[in-house]
Amino acid sequence: MTVRTTTPDLSSGSPDWWRQAVVYQVYPRSFADADGDGLGDLKGAARRLDHLASLGVDALWLSPFYPSELADGGYDVADHRDVDPRLGTLGDFDALVAEAHRLGLKVIVDLVPNHTSHRHPWFEEALRSAPGSAARDRYVFRDGRGEHGELPPTDWQSVFGGSAWRRVPDGQWYLHLFTPQQPDLNWGSEEVRADFRTTLRFWSDRGVDGFRVDVAHALAKDLAEPLRDLGAPELSDADALPGLPPGTHPFWDRDEVHEIYRDWRRIFDSYRPPRTAVAEAWVDPSERRARYARPDELGQAFNFEYLQAGWDAERLRRIITDSLATARSAGASATWVLSNHDVVRHASRLMLPPGTDDGAWLLSGGRAPAVDAAAGLRRARAATLLMLALPGASYLYQGEELGLPEVADLPFEVLQDPVWEQTGRVRKGRDGCRVPLPWTAAGPSYGFGPGGAWLPQPTGFGARSVEVQDGAAGSTLELYRTALRLRRKLIEGEELHWAPDAPPGVLHFARSDGWRCVANLSAGPVALPPGEVLLSSAPPEDGRLGPDTTAWLA
Ligand code: GLC
Repeated sequence: MTVRTTTPDLSSGSPDWWRQAVVYQVYPRSFADADGDGLGDLKGAARRLDHLASLGVDALWLSPFYPSELADGGYDVADHRDVDPRLGTLGDFDALVAEAHRLGLKVIVDLVPNHTSHRHPWFEEALRSAPGSAARDRYVFRDGRGEHGELPPTDWQSVFGGSAWRRVPDGQWYLHLFTPQQPDLNWGSEEVRADFRTTLRFWSDRGVDGFRVDVAHALAKDLAEPLRDLGAPELSDADALPGLPPGTHPFWDRDEVHEIYRDWRRIFDSYRPPRTAVAEAWVDPSERRARYARPDELGQAFNFEYLQAGWDAERLRRIITDSLATARSAGASATWVLSNHDVVRHASRLMLPPGTDDGAWLLSGGRAPAVDAAAGLRRARAATLLMLALPGASYLYQGEELGLPEVADLPFEVLQDPVWEQTGRVRKGRDGCRVPLPWTAAGPSYGFGPGGAWLPQPTGFGARSVEVQDGAAGSTLELYRTALRLRRKLIEGEELHWAPDAPPGVLHFARSDGWRCVANLSAGPVALPPGEVLLSSAPPEDGRLGPDTTAWLA
């Protein structure tokens, strides 16, 4: 089977640079700390950009660095057009962008339009203002139900657990789909829309190349009175409500959300080259996701179906074929992602038996079921080479190039993710993938910074550091470097041709005559197809590819 798409110009000066880019996610708090306060910062990140350049990525995506009380790791933004003083200044941001551009790296920033921090001046003004005021209308305030308004307006649940409504002293309630410190904005307000246009121009004028749009599927809400109960208070996911026709959920993936992105596209396209964007939209099925990626909207959307597919050849084959076809029909390019700051790192996750609840696994400190770290790394390397051979853009998460596993056994008392408290301490949350990076074999916080690290790094972290892996034959860092260098040379179009004769459990496809990829997800070794092995995630033996191994062939 062949999936064909167009062959765009992917050079960094081309407006199409993003279509098959490799983007590296920097989670600033945990990347590098210049001032030694234990929290990563922009100066620290700027000094480490040579690592990204030597890795061979095209762009970096900076998770939020805006003023924030860190109620949700920076996704609670108090000012969308400034830098948190603990992370630096706007001058530091400009210096980082200049250094990135000097190294040939594009810069993508995170935009958080669904909510603000409760410390945002708008929300503080809303609290000081009367019910029904214009200040309250920038958010979603409602009277409660019950005789005295003592019950929340609807049964809607926060993604992190508990009611999505919180009461304020005068008796009204406000909506927060995430933490109570993240009140949802009202995108029906023209003032809100205008302010985000200003924000898009603010960062674009400072030279950023693109935006990652946080919770892109939640902005449009059905706020017509009376608000509708979902009737399933325990469920907060869009796809957990199968009875609802697509586009009709009161807040997830509503059809009107696309008007917002069509409006933004006009701003993106007013720059040279046009600014790019990628939607974080946890929506099913893939046709719904592809809508966010239409050329007159954001251009790309993260493919979480791929991330959640596990290590199952048939499932991956179906998702790859379907994702390429839907991206193509939307005029977009496909995206692939295995790890980010919200999920268990893939060196651990891919080892969990299908159906394992990540939350329960984390609660057991990663002991039930136990994950063999060496086997996890082997599988992660194979998964990465498979991903990097697919047509479209790949998104990497800091530390995966070191093969870092999830730090599943963080003690409860150090946890900072709001998920832990908001679920009544039943889910540990996402701190285990946010532990500050090890840069050096030894020293304070393994080179993360001159002081400590805001989350404890595990013993033995130094052995996985950049310093130890740099130049070491067979290291995961060198595997990523070689893969990215080769990929740059090998990419021709956006085509993928499945080989018709792959044995069960094996994915085998050609990108071009000079580039084929074979991934063995089966339990035993398989014969390597004829050809020269360009790169493999583990050495082939006697012409056979072992289990959990991927090879690129010419
Ligand atoms: C996105 C972010 C996540 C954050 C949430 C609320 O899903 O990736 O980290 O908690 O939005 O902003």
